[in-house]
Amino acid sequence: MAEKKAAKKTAKKGDFKHLLSPIEIKGVEIKNRIALAPMNTLMSMDNRGYVNEQILAYYAARAKGGCGLIITECVLGTRLASHYPFSTNLHLYNQSFMAGLGELAETVHAFGSRVFIQMSIGFGRQGHALDGRHPPAPSAIPMELSPFHMPKSFPKAVEKFPQSLQAAQGHIPYEMSIDEIRREQDEFANSCRFAAIAQFDGIELHAPHGYLEHQFLSPRSNKRTDLYGGSLQNRMRFLVEVYMKVREAVGPDFPVGMRMSADEHMPDGFTHAEALEVAEIMGSLGIDYFHLSDGSYEALSYFFPDEDGAMLEESSHFKEKLSIPVMCPSIHDPKSAEKAIASGKCDIVSLGRQMFADPEWGNKVAEGRVEDITRCIRCNECLMRASVGSPVRCVKNPNLGREKYMPEYWRPPVKATPILKMNLPPKLWDYFPDDH
Ligand SMILES: Cc1cc2nc3c(=O)[nH]c(=O)nc-3n(C[C@H](O)[C@H](O)[C@H](O)COP(=O)(O)O)c2cc1C
Repeated sequence: MAEKKAAKKTAKKGDFKHLLSPIEIKGVEIKNRIALAPMNTLMSMDNRGYVNEQILAYYAARAKGGCGLIITECVLGTRLASHYPFSTNLHLYNQSFMAGLGELAETVHAFGSRVFIQMSIGFGRQGHALDGRHPPAPSAIPMELSPFHMPKSFPKAVEKFPQSLQAAQGHIPYEMSIDEIRREQDEFANSCRFAAIAQFDGIELHAPHGYLEHQFLSPRSNKRTDLYGGSLQNRMRFLVEVYMKVREAVGPDFPVGMRMSADEHMPDGFTHAEALEVAEIMGSLGIDYFHLSDGSYEALSYFFPDEDGAMLEESSHFKEKLSIPVMCPSIHDPKSAEKAIASGKCDIVSLGRQMFADPEWGNKVAEGRVEDITRCIRCNECLMRASVGSPVRCVKNPNLGREKYMPEYWRPPVKATPILKMNLPPKLWDYFPDDH
């Protein structure tokens, strides 16, 4: 009986050879095709956006657990953006944030993984002012949340606590002026320089899920009549300019990828065909990888699928259009992840909620112990807690949120990177005075 159990636990050598093979993104070697998906943990606690010991240990656990690539939770990259967090986020808009984020990069490196920082220029109408101010957006159009477009278990929670929907709804936004758009883009590009100096291996531009870039792309939320609204070329101008400014700021050799929803799935929203066109143009402009997602706060069931592999078909369409690595989320089953990569539908799998449930997913796959993986049951408790402003926790993993008390996740001693080996941006930084 015991023998049978042991045999069941051992996958055959080579079963996961695609998933475990290395990949390069602009010269950055990643040891396997397993990425931690960016997830706001709400662990920054002080609401001032600084890294703390718990955040370091949370990422250390996922790096030690075998993720080749860690993508950080989204970090707000301008002072204005930081006024409208989703309850609480990390910030990076001046040098004071670099020490903590630098230690985060150092910690992940010490555990043998690569780390990209997900940078956001703002949440637009999906942001929440701590003092009730109106958030900046392409047009003064609020989002419309509905329990009908929500993943399983949400409607029940909303029925019991209708106030949670009301809290997530956010404030009516105001229309950004062209001057403000350009100032935000400049400040954001400058913040991406800080990320490069802090020794992140790459930057992921956060453009999915109904946030600011997405709002500009979408005819549903962008009703502007100037050069930022109307045709797809105009609606994507904001994103293109952000990328071009970031590229100039960090230099040609620094990896810059982007995340974007594959489809808005809402009336008058942008379509999958448009998303493919945008991705193709961004590819021709020089982005180094494409990380898809889906939907928005208004279409949350696409953003948080209830099934494995829900975005794989869309992913294959991006693969057909792009010659850069494509990253696909929400494939929690290792066999399906292996198949997705082997069949050429994506190059890297990014795991979100599954990595809350079991940070050792990568090691267990590598050791053929897939039966030992603690499976995420997609109950969305992590997300529902986050939506009411509480740090994430997991019903399957009691250690989520207490990694800082576990010495195995403390940063081991490593030699400092000599400055001559650093990939520093062409210019260090500009100063953006606080005039908001
Ligand atoms: C609590 C929570 C916070 C998230 N925060 C982010 C974020 O900061 N940036 C982002 O691009 N996606 C974010 N996501 C979405 C995940 O990256 C991922 O796309 C989604 O959870 C679906 O993948 P999964 O089924 O593996 O969880 C978040 C997800 C969760 C559960």
